[in-house]
Amino acid sequence: MLHSLCSLRRIGLSSALLFFQYQPPPRHQIPPSFSPAISSFPSNSTPISLLQIPLSRMLPTDELKNLYFTRSIRDGDLVIVYERHDIMKAVKVCEGSTLQNRFGVFKHSDWIGKPFGSKALSNKGGFVYLLAPTPELWTLVLSHRTQILYIADISFVIMFLEIVPGCLVLESGTGSGSLTTSLARAVAPTGHVYTFDFHEQRASSAREDFEKTGLTSLVTVGVRDIQGQGFPEEFVGLADSVFLDLPQPWLAIPSAERMLKQDGVLCSFSPCIEQVQRSAETLRSKFTDIRTFEVLLRTYEVKEGRTESNEVDGGGSVALPPCKRRLRSKESDDMDNESSTTVMVRPCSEARGHTGYLTFARLGCLS
Ligand SMILES: C[S@@+](CC[C@H](N)C(=O)[O-])C[C@H]1O[C@@H](n2cnc3c(N)ncnc32)[C@H](O)[C@@H]1O
Repeated sequence: MLHSLCSLRRIGLSSALLFFQYQPPPRHQIPPSFSPAISSFPSNSTPISLLQIPLSRMLPTDELKNLYFTRSIRDGDLVIVYERHDIMKAVKVCEGSTLQNRFGVFKHSDWIGKPFGSKALSNKGGFVYLLAPTPELWTLVLSHRTQILYIADISFVIMFLEIVPGCLVLESGTGSGSLTTSLARAVAPTGHVYTFDFHEQRASSAREDFEKTGLTSLVTVGVRDIQGQGFPEEFVGLADSVFLDLPQPWLAIPSAERMLKQDGVLCSFSPCIEQVQRSAETLRSKFTDIRTFEVLLRTYEVKEGRTESNEVDGGGSVALPPCKRRLRSKESDDMDNESSTTVMVRPCSEARGHTGYLTFARLGCLS
């Protein structure tokens, strides 16, 4: 009950704004010492024309909700070059440059002026697709400087932390910035993510990445030992949510609690159950609604193939989970017991297993 009251209070209003009459929610309070990073925010009242949207930007953050990805690729843009679902690369478009891969040589100049999503041809007639950079794709192509969070955990985190435009989110550690990129999109255009890592080089590489992806107005990276020093005092009582991906999260929980607004939500990601137990022990004193989840994703392979028709009809000899769909060619309808073209749907052999445990807790909001 407590949980639903709080959720209604926090989500209901924001969703109404989002779905019925898009107006940016009020900008969060900006801690004085961190304000310079936010001064480049788009103004709350002036719509930004598509032409003014900076190059390479990952998010359609203009207030008219125009999807700038419908525009054409320009010199200096970041594009995701797609060969296959498991072979993609982020490339900065540069007029005089080329991209070389097993399909041949691709001139960047041929890409300029094409809409995102276009097929680009090489000198040998090979092709790739030029996709718009999104947080989902970025998570797949970013350089792994640490273990990262993937889409299943990321989407769960954003939902359970109730992150909406305008939120102020604190995060530590930044790592490779995989989660941070999605947090930035979730809080845009008026919120902000302050992320901290004690490893200087990682923090600096993350900053470079946010520059590349055009997220610098939404993310500030700080170098700080969050387990030792806690979050900076400027944030006391201002955070809508706190996310921890640290080896000893229980050391940072007392500080996280001070940073959160009343009814704010904390999430801690830990690969080991012993870490979860220790964190839950610390959370018990000040937080309510403590819940731990393990998100297990089962991916299915969807392939067209030739199968003996009686195998499919019987359903027994093809060891598939409940048959999703079957396409038969015209001819095969007339020929019983002949092979037919079928869409096969079966679990991937390389399913990703355990990533970690997500522990959520809400700061008590009613006395
Ligand atoms: C697993 S990575 C985080 C990955 C990140 N969630 C992502 O999706 O890319 C953990 C990070 O925590 C940082 N870290 C570890 N202890 C820390 C501490 N006491 N204070 C701040 N950062 C810390 C590490 O340097 C590392 O970059």
